[in-house]
Amino acid sequence: MIRILAIDTSCDETAVAITEGRRVLSNVIYSQALIHKKWGGVVPSLAKRAHEEKIDFVIEEAVRKLRLKDSGFSLAKIGFVAVTQGPGLAVALEVGIKKAKELSAKYEKKLIAINHLEGHLYSPFVQNRTGKPEREFRFPYLVLVASGGHTNLVVFNDHLSYQMLGETVDDAAGEALDKAAKLLGLGYPGGPVIERLAKQVNNQDFHRFPRPMLKTNQLDFSFSGLKTSFYYYLKQRYSFSTTFIIEKKTDLYQLTSSFQQAVFETLVKKTERAIRETGIKNLCLVGGVSANRYLRTLFRGLAKKYQGDVLFPSYPYLTGDNAAMIGVVGYYKALQGKFIADPQTLDRQPRLLL
Ligand code: KG4
Ligand code: ZN
Repeated sequence: MIRILAIDTSCDETAVAITEGRRVLSNVIYSQALIHKKWGGVVPSLAKRAHEEKIDFVIEEAVRKLRLKDSGFSLAKIGFVAVTQGPGLAVALEVGIKKAKELSAKYEKKLIAINHLEGHLYSPFVQNRTGKPEREFRFPYLVLVASGGHTNLVVFNDHLSYQMLGETVDDAAGEALDKAAKLLGLGYPGGPVIERLAKQVNNQDFHRFPRPMLKTNQLDFSFSGLKTSFYYYLKQRYSFSTTFIIEKKTDLYQLTSSFQQAVFETLVKKTERAIRETGIKNLCLVGGVSANRYLRTLFRGLAKKYQGDVLFPSYPYLTGDNAAMIGVVGYYKALQGKFIADPQTLDRQPRLLL
């Protein structure tokens, strides 16, 4: 079976994997979260530098890990190189693409360009080295991609065949959580911290912050109005202008829980609308925000209501950005002969669509 070396440097994770069909043989993720933490979000110039500094090490680490199981393995034995072309941060994508071209030339392997969103769509189907989870593809799926960079509702029709139903017109769901956390002085990424704090009050809604676009018939999302209203609420109530340090723990719990609820209710309601419009009951929830246990519970409830099923990527190594999912898409593209004719011409596409 052919092995693929996959690289993703689309945002703030330097990720490399070696895959074989749907199976992941080696998966290494170097997260830059600590570098960006104090800025409350990803700083492009810092991301670029960290990718450049770490990429060789992450590749070597992926090879080393596979060698523990298969001592005869070397990069010369891979079949293809797969790399994320976009969407993402231009300066970050460039680092992975440059490295992929270099390896493709050095080892004379064909190059496969992958859309980062396709990677997330395939993430629930990525298997570990023993082939778990065993789930088969039962197309079509209705997929909600919720991450720091994306909020999309997509119909996953068949292999490499998708239809975009809706997307965010401003902030992504994870980005909204990150911005709320930043306002509260909770650091980056905000999603996991907010999840923890909201749990203290059983994820209840105390403030009823607005749910933008919930009343419209479209399947697009918008979170910037929610963010603004949250900001003004904090300004009025706590009067600080930059970082609000909420000293009263209960206030903090109630604020984070209410904000999270506003974001999640929007995600669930729009997904429900899409189920009704398409008749598709099999759901997938993917992307960094799919790590949230409460959101998973809400999606299980939604699937149950429509007698469907819901799939999630394995937590934690496939919810956020990783290269394993890129390698798996690479496999399906290789089956269809979708290679880059002249690898040296491959360029990053920061705004690539599905
Ligand atoms: O997929 P991802 O790693 O990167 C992008 O492609 O953006 O997603 C990162 C996003 C961040 O906004 C982060 O706050 C959010 O995923 N996130 C979570 C959780 N873990 C990460 N959001 C809610 N609950 C979580 N447990
Ligand atoms: Zn992502």
